[in-house]
Amino acid sequence: MDFSILAAGASGEGAVPAWAMLAYLAAGVFFILALRGLSSPATSQAGNRNGMIGMAVAVITTLVTHNIANIVEIAIAIFIGAIIGVTIARRIAMTAMPELVAGFHSLVGLAAVVVGFAAWLNPAAFGITDAADQILAVSRVELGLGIAIGAITFSGSIIAFLKLSGRMSGSPIMLPGRHVINLGTLVAILALIGIYTVSPEGGAGQGYLVIAVALLAFIIGFLLIIPIGGADMPVVVSMLNSYSGWAAAAMGFTLGNSAMIITGALVGSSGAILSYIMCRAMNRSFISVIAGGFGADAGAAAAGGAREQRPYKQGSAEDAAYMLEQAEKVIIIPGYGMAVAQAQHALREMGDKLREKGVEVKYAIHPVAGRMPGHMNVLLAEASVPYDEVFELEDINSEFAQADVAFIIGANDVVNPAAKTDKSSPIYGMPVFDVDKAKQVFFIKRSMGGVGYAGVDNDVFYMNQTVMLLADAKKMVEEIVKSLD
Ligand code: TAP
Repeated sequence: MDFSILAAGASGEGAVPAWAMLAYLAAGVFFILALRGLSSPATSQAGNRNGMIGMAVAVITTLVTHNIANIVEIAIAIFIGAIIGVTIARRIAMTAMPELVAGFHSLVGLAAVVVGFAAWLNPAAFGITDAADQILAVSRVELGLGIAIGAITFSGSIIAFLKLSGRMSGSPIMLPGRHVINLGTLVAILALIGIYTVSPEGGAGQGYLVIAVALLAFIIGFLLIIPIGGADMPVVVSMLNSYSGWAAAAMGFTLGNSAMIITGALVGSSGAILSYIMCRAMNRSFISVIAGGFGADAGAAAAGGAREQRPYKQGSAEDAAYMLEQAEKVIIIPGYGMAVAQAQHALREMGDKLREKGVEVKYAIHPVAGRMPGHMNVLLAEASVPYDEVFELEDINSEFAQADVAFIIGANDVVNPAAKTDKSSPIYGMPVFDVDKAKQVFFIKRSMGGVGYAGVDNDVFYMNQTVMLLADAKKMVEEIVKSLD
């Protein structure tokens, strides 16, 4: 393999021209602006644009300032990557986004491992050797950590991808004594990195140390993710996102590339913050996520027993339309079923019609409604629902007591009161919407047999004030819109 094209860090950060350092800094600023923009649907497109500009600045600066042996090969690789990326992005269904993200993370992890091995095999090309041609101790630590985190990210993301795409069962696979095995493997990885750092260059067995770190890390990535049930996979994906950032940052040190260090740190910390926010929204402990196996109970309960038959009221689109136009205040709670049915446009039309009739309409979004963070926000934004009508859980939950109608469309777990009352429920502790406080509840789902992600029954179906609207969400809302004319 010709490492000369990777001679990026050959002369270290010191030899990078000042303008390039400034360009990397500018790229970092664009990435920060991108993250800031992505924090709200209103600014998310600008955020994406800033991210693209930052990445273009970073890549072009690197290509221009380094001694690239064969620019044509790189251009071809970028071209092929771009074609694959655009094709996947165009084809992917919104509901399959989490598995796509998991798949992409696996590539980031693998890239970190490959770069780590390249640097280890040809350290002079990376400028990480001392006067005696030995790899610097600090670079050995970066190398070892980069390879380890990259390998964990790679194998963990592959398992997350397989579970989310249904190619592997979403149920937790529990190995006996897994916490001891995981802890022991992690300690072994750190010990091997330590031994590699202090052992003399070229000494017997040195190669095996780096390979052993990679192999053990591949194994621990696999072990950490298999005990986690499907319901908790989004947190895992976000956590792996964080890991991939830290792997990239570690490799940024090895390559002497400040843009990579900044980007890696941003991805690492934003992923960690998102994981924390999601854990809080699902009432999970962050530490137990990292330890693995925290979704076990949820999976077991989701698989759980037969449901009892209980009486419920069923209504029609006309009934719903009549009650909705009589209402003063309607709160709409969208969930995964709205995404499946692609009912967001019809829903916006319904909201518009009601507002024309003088009804106050608000949309309530749970942090884990749907199948990915911000899923509902994206769909409602796509249907041009005004942002000022969309409210987060903590901002709107107290308003259900004054609502005439709670209109639940394809949501289930996020309105399930068992989360507040039933300690044995897999969703116990997750904050949920207090829809039971509304005067009237309309609940759209396709059948009484269907369950939400957690696989549990929902008392809201059987409440006195609940009317079930059993149909595909889009069809039902379209019929309601017709009845509102
Ligand atoms: P769920 O609890 O998954 O409920 C979805 C509901 O939609 C079900 O009642 C289903 O019933 C109905 N449905 C499905 N297709 C439909 C269609 N075409 N028309 C009408 N209804 C349809 O949804 P949720 O309330 O949004 O909760 C999200 C759940 O997913 C939580 O448990 C959360 O922890 C988990 N989760 C969240 C994420 C993130 S980050 N958002 C990622 C993965 C998992 P029928 O089958 O009877 O129609």
